[in-house]
Amino acid sequence: MRIAVTGAAGMLGTDLMARLSGAHEVIGLDLPQRIESHVVAQVIAPVDSNKISFRACDILDEINTREFVAKIAPDWVIHCAAFTNVDGCEKEPEKAFRLNAEGTRNVAKGAWGAKAKMLYVSTDYVYDGKKSEPYVETDGTGPLNVYGQSKLKGEMEVLNILPDALIVRTSWLFGKNGPNFIEAILAQVGKKDELSVVSDQVGSPTYTVDLSDALARLIEVDASGVFHAANEGYCSWFQYAREILRLYGADGINVKPMTTEELGRPALRPAYSVLSKEKYKRTTRHNMRHWEEALKDYLIHREVSIK
Ligand SMILES: NC(=O)c1ccc[n+]([C@@H]2O[C@H](COP(=O)([O-])OP(=O)(O)OC[C@H]3O[C@@H](n4cnc5c(N)ncnc54)[C@H](OP(=O)(O)O)[C@@H]3O)[C@@H](O)[C@H]2O)c1
Repeated sequence: MRIAVTGAAGMLGTDLMARLSGAHEVIGLDLPQRIESHVVAQVIAPVDSNKISFRACDILDEINTREFVAKIAPDWVIHCAAFTNVDGCEKEPEKAFRLNAEGTRNVAKGAWGAKAKMLYVSTDYVYDGKKSEPYVETDGTGPLNVYGQSKLKGEMEVLNILPDALIVRTSWLFGKNGPNFIEAILAQVGKKDELSVVSDQVGSPTYTVDLSDALARLIEVDASGVFHAANEGYCSWFQYAREILRLYGADGINVKPMTTEELGRPALRPAYSVLSKEKYKRTTRHNMRHWEEALKDYLIHREVSIK
């Protein structure tokens, strides 16, 4: 298949491009400056250049986006581009809605015009976090922050134009091509003896390599509708931090639990956003691995890439 990926130079987009290029022709779209630095840094190992390419495209430009997608004539458009800084969205709500909702509508119009199928990557933050057992896809939404509201509006924009679109909600991403919680914790090693980390938010850390595989499997079975995809298991940010430091061999650092209120970030976060993966498993006959396994894998590859 021919697949266009927006946000192709981002954290998820980079791993997704690599995963899809094994079996498909992939064309990555991102902001010009992002693509330039990505290509210069050779983030993607030299893969078959006939199968993978990048083009500059600002999804806020509706006409340009529609023309680009029409020219590419893809079978699928996978939309990863977003304003993903949760506290940043709270401070700049107009920017959040412009990119996450209007930008998404432009991409959906492009897919519609090209008669392509569309996959929109969404978030666990569309839920209010009041449940105490995993959210299923039919549960009501109730985002607590601007990021979640703007991503949910993005879902609606997509479904308005493409009622059979595929929407995949995921959570707590980490990957080697973007700033993430693991790197934020490891950046403190050697600098601090003690860290305070939030213990009253529970979710599932998810490796972008594993999510990329799950997205590929979903499009390969032609799935449509809303799905959850995340690594198995769950933890609080506090437990996650302790496991990162333990695996890294830096467990001399004392990690102390703190509350969300004590941390006082601009955006509220759901207290519980674990996603049920039953629908994903039934549809793909595949289980995503446990987040602890994925974390080990990430740290191993990180060490290799440092050397
Ligand atoms: N990160 C998470 O924990 C998480 C959790 C759940 C769901 N998600 C969803 O997963 C998807 C991927 O997330 P991610 O963390 O991989 O995102 P990311 O690293 O921030 O990548 C997004 C990419 O989109 C680009 N972009 C921004 N504005 C654009 C525009 N106007 N036109 C074209 N491209 C533009 C970004 O460039 P710049 O960096 O230069 O702006 C970046 O390269 C997003 O849809 C996000 O909402 C993420």
